[in-house]
Amino acid sequence: MRIFDIITKKKHGCALTDAEIEYMVDGFVQNDIADYQMAAMLMAIWFKGMNDHELFVLTQAMARSGDMIDLSAITGKKVDKHSTGGVGDKTTLVIAPIVAACGGKVAKMSGRGLGHTGGTIDKLESIPKMRTSLQQAEFFSIVNKIGLAVIGQTGNLAPADKKIYALRDVTATVDSIPLIASSIMSKKLAAGSDCILLDVKTGSGAFMKTLDESIQLAQKMVAIGEQAGRKTLALITDMDIPLGAAVGNSLEVIEAINTLQGNGPKDLTNICLQLAANMLYLLDKGSMPECLAMAQKTIEDGSAFTKFAAMVEAQGGDTAFVYDTSKFARARYCKRILADADGFISKMNAEKCGIASVMLGAGREVKDASIDFSAGIMIRKKYGEAVRKGDILAELFTSEEKRLEEAALVYKTAIIISKTKPVQIPLVFARVE
Ligand code: URA
Repeated sequence: MRIFDIITKKKHGCALTDAEIEYMVDGFVQNDIADYQMAAMLMAIWFKGMNDHELFVLTQAMARSGDMIDLSAITGKKVDKHSTGGVGDKTTLVIAPIVAACGGKVAKMSGRGLGHTGGTIDKLESIPKMRTSLQQAEFFSIVNKIGLAVIGQTGNLAPADKKIYALRDVTATVDSIPLIASSIMSKKLAAGSDCILLDVKTGSGAFMKTLDESIQLAQKMVAIGEQAGRKTLALITDMDIPLGAAVGNSLEVIEAINTLQGNGPKDLTNICLQLAANMLYLLDKGSMPECLAMAQKTIEDGSAFTKFAAMVEAQGGDTAFVYDTSKFARARYCKRILADADGFISKMNAEKCGIASVMLGAGREVKDASIDFSAGIMIRKKYGEAVRKGDILAELFTSEEKRLEEAALVYKTAIIISKTKPVQIPLVFARVE
């Protein structure tokens, strides 16, 4: 078999055999296939796509390129959740404790920020002393004891995806449905949970900008999960505007804690309840209305917040910050963005809001850069709200004063104020089973 012939075949739009796909993935992981050959292959897939069988075989080969985690040492059914990435998306911090408070098991491996989107592990690390890298035995033992733990991906989880993703990032091949579906699902299959809830984001701040593409992506991922014997469903949720009011690591942790205590922004609270209810539904905890009521109760009775605090404690974090969020360090510099006209916020480009937050220091502009945990944005006026000239639209926070001006310029270009009230955007567009 020669990779040259396999590339040629895909270039002409032909379906690859199982053996060809496995040869390509194994060869690339073992460095027998060069980056430039894989880059050509990825571009051929970008143009010609893959049929459902090819996609399943590719995903399995990528999942099996590293450890396939066996979660059987954790009692009961395990449910995982994956977001395709967004701005202000701190849902994992809220829904994992809700599900655990309802008796579900969440053994979650999360990622770091990517591009303009934030990552759960960076957010959790803004809690002093929080450990996000645990040995498997400790990870399992925490989940058995309290129902949840959230750690970073182990080095050997789907290494094929790690290598392929790095190449996609620099060859303009990220935005391909088969490549995104295989990337996400290979990690989910390797992570070992019985059920998977996919939160597929759509809109300006998402990788998939249109609803049609998002639904297609969700359908492909659900089909892969089901074929692999995992109960899988997807919600298509809005990422045209940032989620909640906080963008940036410790700001988002504080907002997640407020939400767990029943004082979160409406959009974030609602979406977390919907996602958590769907996870409980996957775990066969009841009908959708019953699962929604169960999720709601854990916020009202404080049990979800108690689970969050228990997780922080079990992972070594300083719980004093959880019980008193005023202890989180505040950024040294703040700039207010003011409305320059009367009207309504009729556009908030989520991607630009995310870029402004990265520019303030909340994300990485180069690989392995350190993060300013207190940097970010507090949005004071959201999409659809009425504003008067001079009102505060947002507050920008950073530890480095020189970052403020450029980030402020980007944030301003994300916002449009117009005379008429815009239509309401749904939080959940569709559910794919
Ligand atoms: N997230 C992933 O893990 N992979 C992609 O390809 C896109 C988003």
